[in-house]
Amino acid sequence: MTRTVIRGGLVVTAAEEMHADVLIEGERVVALAAFGTSAAEGWTADREIDARGLYVIPGGVDAHTHMELPFGGTSASDTFETGTRAAAWGGTTTIVDFAVQGVGATLRAGLDAWHAKADGNCAIDYGFHMILADVNEHSLKEMDLLVAEGVSSFKLFMAYPGVFYSDDGRILRAMQRGADNGGLVMMHAENGLAIDVLVEQALAAGHTDPRYHGEVRRELLEAEAVHRAIKLSQVAGSPLYVVHVSAASAVAELAAARDQGLNVFGETCPQYLYLSTDNLAEPGFEGAKYVCSTPLRPKEHQAALWRGLRTNDLQVVSTDHCPFCFVGQKELGRGDFSKIPNGLPGVENRMDLLHQAVVDGHLSRRRWIEIACATPARMFGLYPRKGTIAPGADADIVLYDPSATQTLSARTHHMNVDYSAYEGRQLTGRVRTVLSRGTVVVDGDRWLGRAGHGRFQPRATCQYLI
Ligand code: URP
Ligand code: ZN
Ligand code: ZN
Ligand code: ZN
Repeated sequence: MTRTVIRGGLVVTAAEEMHADVLIEGERVVALAAFGTSAAEGWTADREIDARGLYVIPGGVDAHTHMELPFGGTSASDTFETGTRAAAWGGTTTIVDFAVQGVGATLRAGLDAWHAKADGNCAIDYGFHMILADVNEHSLKEMDLLVAEGVSSFKLFMAYPGVFYSDDGRILRAMQRGADNGGLVMMHAENGLAIDVLVEQALAAGHTDPRYHGEVRRELLEAEAVHRAIKLSQVAGSPLYVVHVSAASAVAELAAARDQGLNVFGETCPQYLYLSTDNLAEPGFEGAKYVCSTPLRPKEHQAALWRGLRTNDLQVVSTDHCPFCFVGQKELGRGDFSKIPNGLPGVENRMDLLHQAVVDGHLSRRRWIEIACATPARMFGLYPRKGTIAPGADADIVLYDPSATQTLSARTHHMNVDYSAYEGRQLTGRVRTVLSRGTVVVDGDRWLGRAGHGRFQPRATCQYLI
């Protein structure tokens, strides 16, 4: 077994910061020892990695990605191969992607199809959530089997009637099943039936530009759906995880529920923290690059999201990485914003954008690691194998240079998409070296990883309950 020592860095986990050396044997961390102590100096290794001046952090856990997702008459442009490689370049070493149940099909068929897309193609480890698009007697029973094989979370949609939408009765039934089998319900909380009325009215009035995507998907209809989802989860006695929260009033609903002691959790994404309706209103058809659901909100919402991340009313930042090229994909919605495929690229940028939040004073270093690594791992049953640096954990480790600078651009990113939502943005901090289960996959500018190194990770049930 290869023995590797990472020497001289500042180890940052959600729990603590310490100048320590890290000993790795094979795929696992076996020991940490304070820098300069005799214990650490006595370690012999096949390979020494010099981490002086760098942070040594757990690899990022991105709990919300959509590689190759068929959506809006096209498919997300990153495959599991290109998307997991881009993730690794950005310091993320685990993704949890969404397998999809087709309407009229079984969970098994959907999960098998997603395994087939990912198997042998991923550069980093991965797990699956299951999208429940058709709640019925059979799929409810199948939920138990999926939980038992490590697919322990289920996304339901209050949005997208005719596609993924479930009515309140179906949602309640899925939540009741989750309360029994430990499966965590993840909610896309927007009132899709009401939104579709507003879409129709906007188009009839000749409002076809991308910015109307943001206008019809009203903040009130996000907050209302979050509120309703919370009440349904209370009736079912189940925990609830609300994905891609973008509105201040939605955060307020989560905070109120949490103040009652409920197991209600919220995720936001970098696009809601850094981008706004100003981007959706960019001239020409540029706004299409920023069409996602929930939509970008006016800038004023950002302060509430940052505050939620500080107060732990929001626990996780994932990307909702769902890239569509501008040319040929986003363009499907020229003349009709409702035909723009929904989703933004970002799997490569999350760790850096959140480090910038440390630089800007929004988050502490430990909180950065907590929302990007440790909590997503605990929320989705991957801890402590993922999300921390400790004896026994997988050696998914990033050496991060906090003082290097970079400029985000489609010219230099590794995601398979022809634009960056953050084009030209300058950041302080950059990934230097990435290890995935003890294997160096990124070293400076060199790619050393390979498709197929990444393994499916069966997950336990939620480890974050109050
Ligand atoms: O716009 C988005 N978020 N696309 C991906 C599907 C979803 O609802 O997460
Ligand atoms: Zn969603
Ligand atoms: Zn609170
Ligand atoms: Zn999503």
